[in-house]
Amino acid sequence: MKNRWWKRLLSVAVICVCTSGLLAGCGPFGDVTAQPDDLETSSDEEEDLIVVGFSQIGSESVWRTANSASIQKAFSRENGFFLEFNNARQKQENQIKAIRGFISQRVDYIVFSPVTEDGWETVLQEAKDAGIPVILVDRKVVVEDESLYTTWIGSDAEGEGEKAGIWLEGYLEEAEREDESINIVVLQGTPEASVQLGRTIGFESVAANHPNWRILEQKSADFTNAKGEEVMDEFIKKYQDIDVVVSQNDDMTFGALKALEANGITTGVDGDVIVVSFDAVHEALELVQHGIINVDVECNPEQGDYIVDIIRKLENGEPVRKENIVEEQVFTPENVEQYLDTRTY
Ligand code: AHR
Repeated sequence: MKNRWWKRLLSVAVICVCTSGLLAGCGPFGDVTAQPDDLETSSDEEEDLIVVGFSQIGSESVWRTANSASIQKAFSRENGFFLEFNNARQKQENQIKAIRGFISQRVDYIVFSPVTEDGWETVLQEAKDAGIPVILVDRKVVVEDESLYTTWIGSDAEGEGEKAGIWLEGYLEEAEREDESINIVVLQGTPEASVQLGRTIGFESVAANHPNWRILEQKSADFTNAKGEEVMDEFIKKYQDIDVVVSQNDDMTFGALKALEANGITTGVDGDVIVVSFDAVHEALELVQHGIINVDVECNPEQGDYIVDIIRKLENGEPVRKENIVEEQVFTPENVEQYLDTRTY
């Protein structure tokens, strides 16, 4: 795309206004972060920067922090980008407000991770009418007209749920417990988030093949450590005989482990309760290594470079796939060691 200089000037102007607004506690787009040198006057080199508006869900988890870092690193000036980063603090209304702000700034691309699946039609139509391509990252939207976004990049959440179920099948078989009655509780992520729905459907599809697996209850703990502890504590008080905890992210697992420990319940390879987690952040992989978490199904947050590749293709007029799934694996005490040194988050 050519002649970006006027957009760049507009962006700088909006950030100046926004930053002074934020200092006064009244920023129009919520938490838009601009680095000090973002406010320099535009130079010849900067005229060609590709302006990307990114609305992140929030900072609810270690995974999310790693995801933000990956995106901020990939959309650097050295790579030819000017990034406007917005933190929506878990609120769809904040994301919609931020996207409208990006549209009025006439950014080149809008990238966002939708907190929930539904409710995006109107704002996506506005972006389409303004001719701004929208790239979804991490989570998905449900819209009747799929031309409202250009492409999606993220994890196969349903596949992750299935992997967790398939791992449990194998584990119980090996322990010769495949015919035992197995009581399961599930700590779910944010309600109506595509990742929560996908992991739930995937795990349930495997559980459906095992009439002896009883899912006692599934309850949202919002992907956070504090809620994970709270909901796990409720489960412990309610159900005497929990065999398996499926926790849809590591932060909830950390909270759940606190609750279990506080109630004198041991976990993992030699413990009372089998723990199945998702994400595979470094701290959780250490717990896998020590046999406290039995398995961690990876959800890869390092999506920044993939989005850059997609934008480069779009800039060159090349076609892009509608769905792009990042690579992921399953970690157990048997294979985790080799990955620990290289995991940066
Ligand atoms: O959408 C990805 C999920 O959201 C990750 O599993 C979780 O940690 C995050 O908050």
